[in-house]
Amino acid sequence: VMVLPLLLLCWEHNASVLCLLEFTREDFPSDFVFGAGTSAFQYEGAWAEDGKTPSIWDTFTHAGLVGESITDVASDGYHKYKGDITLMNDTGLEAYRLSISWPRLLPKGRGPVNPKGLEYYNNVIDELIKHGIQPHVTLHHLDIPQVLQDEYGGWLSRKFIDDFKELADVCFREFGDRVSYWTTMNEPNINAMSSFDYGYFPPNRCSFPFGDNCTRGNSTVEPYIAAHNMILAHSAVVELYRQKYQIMKKNCGSRLPSFTSFESQQVKGSYDFIGLNYYYALYATYDPNISMADLRDITLDMFAKFTDMKDGTPISRILPPSHPTKDFHSLWKLLYYLKNTYNNPPIYIHENGFGFGVVDTIDDLGRISFLSGFIGSVLDSIRDGSDVRGYFIWAFLDVYEWITGLTERFGLYHVNFEDTELERTPRLSAHWYRNFLKDGGTIK
Ligand code: NOJ
Repeated sequence: VMVLPLLLLCWEHNASVLCLLEFTREDFPSDFVFGAGTSAFQYEGAWAEDGKTPSIWDTFTHAGLVGESITDVASDGYHKYKGDITLMNDTGLEAYRLSISWPRLLPKGRGPVNPKGLEYYNNVIDELIKHGIQPHVTLHHLDIPQVLQDEYGGWLSRKFIDDFKELADVCFREFGDRVSYWTTMNEPNINAMSSFDYGYFPPNRCSFPFGDNCTRGNSTVEPYIAAHNMILAHSAVVELYRQKYQIMKKNCGSRLPSFTSFESQQVKGSYDFIGLNYYYALYATYDPNISMADLRDITLDMFAKFTDMKDGTPISRILPPSHPTKDFHSLWKLLYYLKNTYNNPPIYIHENGFGFGVVDTIDDLGRISFLSGFIGSVLDSIRDGSDVRGYFIWAFLDVYEWITGLTERFGLYHVNFEDTELERTPRLSAHWYRNFLKDGGTIK
């Protein structure tokens, strides 16, 4: 029998056309995990329930700056997590990425732990494990407690680092027996820029008038201070984990010599894996003659295009769905670059998703073709030697989107926000993912 492979996913590269063959789940390493994710603020709701205090995002959405405030309930994950985990199991998810709501766990930002918050995350983690789904936990996904913002300006103060360490300590201690995959923070670059330069994320500090609702900050320093503190907070938490929660410490106790702080500083590489959120590539060229003002105009123009997503119009850099593009290849390129530049670090693709023009669409063929292309790109990278260990779709179900609210939907499952039941309906992409993960289905 002669088998003719179907060459469906192709792109141009150095004047030649490269194509992927079709593939199945079995083509990935057996310990590779496929998942999907959400984040606490976007998913949980229950904004003032059971002892939780407001986060800076509660304050922001209550001020009505981005239209309707639906985040009090959001996707109601706080009450519906069990049903959702059943859906995850039905879909064949092997892993689920979630984040911790800091003000739910530590309502004062530090100090007493909220027993109800603890109970909620314990329940979620236990439920996932019961279904054989690996929890991957992000400690910080944008929503810091409002009290810490008020007290010392959040990320702009070094005090934040100690408080973040305390949050991490509680999480490692309480959930570490069941959670093996921890990420310190989500998209720190976006966080620093959006909150302290463009000003459209709370605390809405901006350096140039991107919108009407930001407070003029000092962009020559603030985004950098925030980013600096994020790096310090990240490495402080990694050191805490390694010092206090390493299995070696537990087993060997006092027999283990300890590091001086000087020695600790010398231990480089404060990560075990890199979590990569990947949506699209922007290609840039170096232009020594460009002025700061031009650069800002280009940035503003880019964001103006970005906001087209609000009405569901695909932005120009994403070519029509079902049209294989070199965009898929851009992920391969990035993974290739990371492999060669950083000594092939282990990587989890923590987010990859498609949110254009699918608010109430159930037959989301565009999303399927988008995700298929990138999963193919991941497989190709693995075959070329990249150490990619997992892939999570953003998002498992429709959740509140930070600036565009409910007008941009990323979910494999549709959520009916019009109705108080918030009913979940599988989109075609949920069936497609299930077919791939559970039924040996092929991606073409
Ligand atoms: C990045 C963020 O981590 C997530 O919260 C957001 O919803 C998605 N990408 C889509 O914009």
